[in-house]
Amino acid sequence: MTNEQKIWDDLGEQGFGTLVQSFYVLVRQDDLIGPMYPEDDWEGSEERLRDFLCFRFGAVMRYMEKRGHPRLRARHMPFGIGVAERDRWMELMGAALDETVKNEEVREALREFFAGVADFMRNRPEAGS
Ligand code: HEM
Repeated sequence: MTNEQKIWDDLGEQGFGTLVQSFYVLVRQDDLIGPMYPEDDWEGSEERLRDFLCFRFGAVMRYMEKRGHPRLRARHMPFGIGVAERDRWMELMGAALDETVKNEEVREALREFFAGVADFMRNRPEAGS
């Protein structure tokens, strides 16, 4: 995977802000995962994901100061996330990446990163498995 420094140098806070903004435009309109988010706090959702990414890739401490340790898997437990929800989240993030990240290597490295975390968030057994 492209190293984190390279991703951060390419995007910075501004690039991650644009990516997350473009992602939530799609999430808001989505019939499957849109309704899982608090409908009166889209700005908050945007801020939490952007700050998390700036922490993860740029060691910007704002997320930790506001939210503490990410504990992402635990924080997603209240939402039913199976294969369909994971795939939809990735589809929307994939479209946001295509729209906003011009550097192909950086874009593909981020796609891989998001796919790994999204799969880890699954917390509902699938029928027949
Ligand atoms: C797999 C499908 C996923 C679904 C359906 C999902 C859904 C949600 C929902 C409903 C929330 C609560 C609303 C909010 O606080 O904004 C949330 C929070 C959050 N999600 Fe996800 N998410 C998924 C994957 C991911 C992935 C892959 C990442 C990061 C790479 C991520 C990062 C976050 C963060 C940082 C928060 C805020 C946590 C907090 O501080 O409370 N999510 N997600």
